[in-house]
Amino acid sequence: MSNVTVNVEGKAISVPAGESAAGAALAAGLTHTRVSPVTGEPRAPYCMMGVCFECLMVIDGVPSRQACMVPVREGMRIERQTAVEVWK
Ligand code: FES
Repeated sequence: MSNVTVNVEGKAISVPAGESAAGAALAAGLTHTRVSPVTGEPRAPYCMMGVCFECLMVIDGVPSRQACMVPVREGMRIERQTAVEVWK
């Protein structure tokens, strides 16, 4: 299986092609992938199958992407989503 290099919160990481962006974020050691715009609490992927929406992240500059449903590709930028970014 080939690997691709993605950028998670400014850190380059090599992950298997076909992995999800959420999987890459977890593999990079992120303990949370977004902050609740309502409570400010850190949130993290839970279902990994597109149901819970806990994995919303900024991917290649686009906010509110379901990271568990987005396959990685070479050079992808994966960033945490904060409450501020939701309202930009
Ligand atoms: S982890 Fe549940 S929708 Fe992505």
